[in-house]
Amino acid sequence: MTEITIRRAGANDVERLNEALRSLSDDIGDSHGGTPELLVQAGFGDHPAFRAMLAEARDDIVGAALYSPVFSTVRAGAGAYVSDLWIAAEARGQGLGRKLLAAVADDARTVWNACFVKLAVYDGNRKARAFYDRLGFAASTGETTLTLDESGLAALKNT
Ligand SMILES: CC(C)(COP(=O)(O)OP(=O)(O)OC[C@H]1O[C@@H](n2cnc3c(N)ncnc32)[C@H](O)[C@@H]1OP(=O)(O)O)[C@@H](O)C(=O)NCCC(=O)NCCS
Repeated sequence: MTEITIRRAGANDVERLNEALRSLSDDIGDSHGGTPELLVQAGFGDHPAFRAMLAEARDDIVGAALYSPVFSTVRAGAGAYVSDLWIAAEARGQGLGRKLLAAVADDARTVWNACFVKLAVYDGNRKARAFYDRLGFAASTGETTLTLDESGLAALKNT
């Protein structure tokens, strides 16, 4: 079996990282707004909005995770918000998703002293939900995720 390496992505990886994220978008039915340029700008400048972990088999990216810091006064500490997690179809079911998330958690603990991992999963993505359930993730109750988009932000600014 090909050896798989898990490592943090650098600016030189953005082309292949973007392809991995595009595959994730395809798999879960999202439109894909990412580009390598956007990823460089958002993830590898002076104030990165995310970090990324890659699973690599020779020169192929077979897994990717994007994560960002969040802070919770309730939990009295920082956490990692995993915005994207993808394992290539041919590499699924071998423990790689678990390993990638473990590497994310390790890195987040090192850089942010993160004591929890948070993420969202589409209601219809039953396989991913089963995967997260298996790892011990618990669904939040009594809260709804809300987003203010660009037009909302513009309106907010003008109030
Ligand atoms: C969800 C995903 C990341 C899981 O990665 P994976 O490498 O296949 O999962 P693993 O092999 O590491 O599985 C870890 C555990 O979850 C369990 N698991 C994985 N998929 C499962 C499923 N569909 N049903 C039930 N259990 C599952 C495994 O049995 C394993 O448990 P075990 O260690 O006790 O045997 C991968 O399937 C994927 O990329 N899917 C498409 C994209 C996607 O939906 N991403 C998540 C968006 S929120």
